[in-house]
Amino acid sequence: MTTTPDPSPKPSAFVSRRQFIQLGLYSLGAAWLGTWLQSRWFPSASTTQEAVPVSFPLAELPVGGTRAVTYGGVSVLVLRTPESLRAFSLVCTHLGCTVQWQADKKEFYCPCHDGRFDEFGDVLAGPPPIPLEQFPVTVEGETVIVGEI
Ligand code: FES
Repeated sequence: MTTTPDPSPKPSAFVSRRQFIQLGLYSLGAAWLGTWLQSRWFPSASTTQEAVPVSFPLAELPVGGTRAVTYGGVSVLVLRTPESLRAFSLVCTHLGCTVQWQADKKEFYCPCHDGRFDEFGDVLAGPPPIPLEQFPVTVEGETVIVGEI
């Protein structure tokens, strides 16, 4: 008794190289689409949304002092010098750690990677690529207003 070989290829338990590459491309596409949709539907907190101006009495911020406020969901520090009032985000522009104001040095310090910013928010040292985000400050009468009015 003789058997004839089956001319059709046997199904493999493994996927072919082509199927594997297609599966990888589909996975990448799905991951990209998911990320894009998430950013559209659930944008991260930013100062552009729900950024309601914050106000407080000028008397509560003496010359040389600071005042912490929250503007647009971001922690902000208002600095008062003899010359001006300035408001900066306390979010480090490197990887988002919270910077600390060091009054004795007149610097913002980021403890995560030793980033330093001067009293104008400009980068002094470390890995931060850009200055701290600055917000408008207005004085109307005896009231300080942080944010766009
Ligand atoms: S997160 Fe601030 S220096 Fe890296």
